[in-house]
Amino acid sequence: MDQQWEQLRQRCLVCRACSLAQERTQVVFGVGDPAAEVLLVGEAPGANEDKQGEPFVGRAGKLLDDMLQMIGLSRERIYITNSVKCRPPQNRDPLNTEKEACSGYLRRQMELMQPKILVCLGRISAMELIKPDFRITQEHGLFFRQDGIEKMAMYHPAALLRDPGKKPETFEDLKRLQAKIREICVR
Ligand code: URA
Repeated sequence: MDQQWEQLRQRCLVCRACSLAQERTQVVFGVGDPAAEVLLVGEAPGANEDKQGEPFVGRAGKLLDDMLQMIGLSRERIYITNSVKCRPPQNRDPLNTEKEACSGYLRRQMELMQPKILVCLGRISAMELIKPDFRITQEHGLFFRQDGIEKMAMYHPAALLRDPGKKPETFEDLKRLQAKIREICVR
């Protein structure tokens, strides 16, 4: 696994499969423990992530770290990545062609990790990884068992920064996540 993971990482770091390669500073492959049972997936790197090469390191990332800490998690104990590994210019939404060009990397990360729990951060990731008609306002915090993986979505931390009124609901989602981890994770 270690060797296969490293091969995938090296391949991803030099990827030129779409035009995002022209403007990125670096590919943001992910952070944490690839042997973890919990995988968090955001949308795409922003400016800070592009500079530092790590997902969720800006203000939204600080909030994410605080949220994880509330339930006794840290980025070292889980794995965090994005659906799209390179920053779209001016933080625009990734195009479908870019998402398609990149999708194989997350697919392979999931094959190698075999996570028990997948948490989608935000609607875009949930629409891609849970179901295309995912409604974040109605379905956040619910678990969907698919292909042997317990999948749930929470509001994206950037959405919580824009609308702190969503934080109490997210705290409930975090408690549900913590309970699910206690129920099915062994590590
Ligand atoms: N937003 C995301 O979805 N991912 C990041 O890595 C940073 C911000």
